[in-house]
Amino acid sequence: MTAAMEAFVRVEGLAAADVSEGSLHGATLANGTRLCVGRHAGVLFAMKDYCTHAEFPLSEGSVLPSGEIECCWHGARFDCRSGAVRRGPAEDALAMWEVEERDGAIFARRPPRAGP
Ligand code: FES
Repeated sequence: MTAAMEAFVRVEGLAAADVSEGSLHGATLANGTRLCVGRHAGVLFAMKDYCTHAEFPLSEGSVLPSGEIECCWHGARFDCRSGAVRRGPAEDALAMWEVEERDGAIFARRPPRAGP
């Protein structure tokens, strides 16, 4: 059985042009979900705005030239495409959301297996 796909939801208060190369931004969906949106190699990515290690906001971290997101609290690193852990202390991958740019706005959709 296939999980139902959720609809794309507009990211409030953040335009695609605001997300420059290598930057991370905290943003909120209309339903209150807090996301971290960033850009690497010209492509937008997004995930919930907390580190899987101790829930520090990832939007406070940085995107390395390698495309890894680095949490600035204890230094965990994640692949910005797959969400896979590249360096501890985090053990659990990030659930990456699908992101689309439409007329300068950002829309995001929860991945099917992202959990609550
Ligand atoms: S909270 Fe991110 S590495 Fe610890």
